[in-house]
Amino acid sequence: MSLKEHIDLQRLPQHVAIIMDGNGRWAKKQGRPRIFGHRNGVKAVREVSEAAAELGVEYLTLYAFSTENWNRPQLEITALMALLVETIRKEVSTLMDNNIRLSAIGDLQQLPGKTYAALQEGIDITKENDRMTLTLALNYSSRWEIVEAAKEAARAAQLGKIKMDDLDAATFAEFLATSTPDPELLIRTSGEHRISNFLLWQIAYAELYFTPVFWPEFRKKHFYEAIIDYQHRERRFGKISEQIV
Ligand code: IPE
Ligand code: IPE
Ligand code: MG
Repeated sequence: MSLKEHIDLQRLPQHVAIIMDGNGRWAKKQGRPRIFGHRNGVKAVREVSEAAAELGVEYLTLYAFSTENWNRPQLEITALMALLVETIRKEVSTLMDNNIRLSAIGDLQQLPGKTYAALQEGIDITKENDRMTLTLALNYSSRWEIVEAAKEAARAAQLGKIKMDDLDAATFAEFLATSTPDPELLIRTSGEHRISNFLLWQIAYAELYFTPVFWPEFRKKHFYEAIIDYQHRERRFGKISEQIV
């Protein structure tokens, strides 16, 4: 039986989020510049997008560039932004072939013009696709998103569109940049065990999966392993085991 056949298709996570990490260290390991690692990360993106769509996962969210990543050396940032343009343009056909809709979250207006334009173009071309939504988190940080949502909620209250006292977790979530259901599974590659400002609100009850595999080496089988691991977890949501059917 292949790894894929061990997956119960009736119990798939609807939304998987991934912190794609380890590109730099993977490159360094073979004496290559960090950008070589980023370039090789593109194949992993393609593989995982395909694997997720083929299984029937409805939403895949990939952390591609954090707000804090602006603190990296300028050379790496420039190369990464150029790689994003090149990749989005090149991968649009793969997205069309797989009926995948492209989406993005983050402070997108602050991206370099060319990156923003390529992104908007990709989003526009794929907007009718409906098998899976692939969301790129770009210039994203969760605290930024939550603060923006708080500002929006306050504005709505000021304008009388909502009543302050009616605000609860569900109505507040409507002000977040993410309009997807919360991810049930969060994967981080490269052996780091942290969240790095990603989807803090949305992962309140997500299952966390950490793998030592560096992102450029992440393949379909690693994705399947994560899903199988997820399917062996008991999600209790505060209840006790005996209450779970
Ligand atoms: C993840 O790989 C990609 C981005 C953050 C853009 P890194 O570039 O963080 O690689 P490491 O963690 O330094 O190995
Ligand atoms: C998180 O990875 C951001 C992305 C994957 C885009 P980092 O490599 O930037 O995270 P830290 O700084 O090691 O926590
Ligand atoms: Mg990293």
